[in-house]
Amino acid sequence: ERRTVVVIGAGPAGLTVGNILRAAAVDCVVLETESREFVETRPRAGVIEEWAVRGLEQRGLADALLAGAQVHSACEFRFDSERFRFDYAALTGRHHYIYPQPLLVTDLVREYADVRGGDIRFGVRDVRLHDVDSDRPTVSYTDPATGRRHVLHCAFVAGCDGARGVSRDTVPDARTRMSRQDYGVGWLALLAQAPPSSDCVLFGVHPDGFAGHMARGPEVTRYYLQCPPGDDPQNWPHDRIWAELHERLGAEGAPPLNEGPLVEKRVLDMHNYVVEPMVFGRLFLAGDAGHLTAPIAAKGMNLALHDAFLLGDALVAHVTEDDDSGLDGYSHASLRRVWDYQEFSGFLSDIYHGTASGDPFLAGTSLARLRRLFTSTAAATAFAEQYLGAAAAF
Ligand code: APR
Repeated sequence: ERRTVVVIGAGPAGLTVGNILRAAAVDCVVLETESREFVETRPRAGVIEEWAVRGLEQRGLADALLAGAQVHSACEFRFDSERFRFDYAALTGRHHYIYPQPLLVTDLVREYADVRGGDIRFGVRDVRLHDVDSDRPTVSYTDPATGRRHVLHCAFVAGCDGARGVSRDTVPDARTRMSRQDYGVGWLALLAQAPPSSDCVLFGVHPDGFAGHMARGPEVTRYYLQCPPGDDPQNWPHDRIWAELHERLGAEGAPPLNEGPLVEKRVLDMHNYVVEPMVFGRLFLAGDAGHLTAPIAAKGMNLALHDAFLLGDALVAHVTEDDDSGLDGYSHASLRRVWDYQEFSGFLSDIYHGTASGDPFLAGTSLARLRRLFTSTAAATAFAEQYLGAAAAF
């Protein structure tokens, strides 16, 4: 079987690439190890930056998002028992869109498979890449129904299979560099069946550790609690979680948090990596396959979409116009935004985790950094631009 492009992984990156290819009638197939239902319900990220929404809209992929997403214009920091509202839309004229990743994935699968007639194969097993450093790469997998191996011959492979995929492992160590950073903190990620307790995102910066609150829908709220890396979620019974959330997000004049059953409880270790370059022969990595940013600054889905726009457009230009400039510049263009977002994520990590670091000096400087956002318009504007993701600087 022959295809021009094989896309590995049906997350935001792979599905966006697939949709861009289908819109230009480029022959492709998407391979995904999980089921359709699984990828459409898996709880993941939820923040999409305005430039990324526009990028989806330009490619005909934002109808449901624009009808259903919440548009946020401010967030609130809580520290020293006080509330500090940060109105980023007033500073920049831009907004954040809150749209859970499973909804975006559902929209993208429907558009790709049901509207644009794209070929997508769920539940495939044992995906392997071969000869990607030649001009005749192949991808093989086991068909779940027959148990048989299939081989797809192609011109390009888009490796969009996330942090635990197989594409990245195809690249020999000598041909790439993987840079890693570990923040040495964990976040207990919680989903509560409880209405949000604020009209905006809340960040609690507290000597016991960071706490976060984000609306996910009228009846569902995401909470985060800083914890030791590798901590066992069993160490966090219901009562302890709510006591810590009340403590760390408490502030004078703040309404009490709405409690509810916790339907998800996972510990995420805060770490990052970047693969450079993101290209090996005919294999192009995109999204988490190429770089991971800890969810500290909610950048992951945005970087995945940025890659997908660049890569999808570049593949289309190559196939339809014989223009290779996009493919040649892909890795460089992606990594500029990746490194910028990694830097901001580290800056924000110091603010969130400094007060609970056990180091009184770092606690002092990180609180000073936070207070500066509320005393200097220049500092606040610079922060707001990075928080929302630069629109045009790349
Ligand atoms: N073969 C095929 N598919 C695979 C394989 C494999 N060997 N391994 C993993 N996958 C699939 C996963 O099941 C998943 O559906 O690849 C997809 C990768 O999707 P994501 O992990 O969502 O990654 P990406 O599209 O890069 O989007 C990044 O995910 O983790 C969040 O915060 C992150 O929002 C960001 C987004």
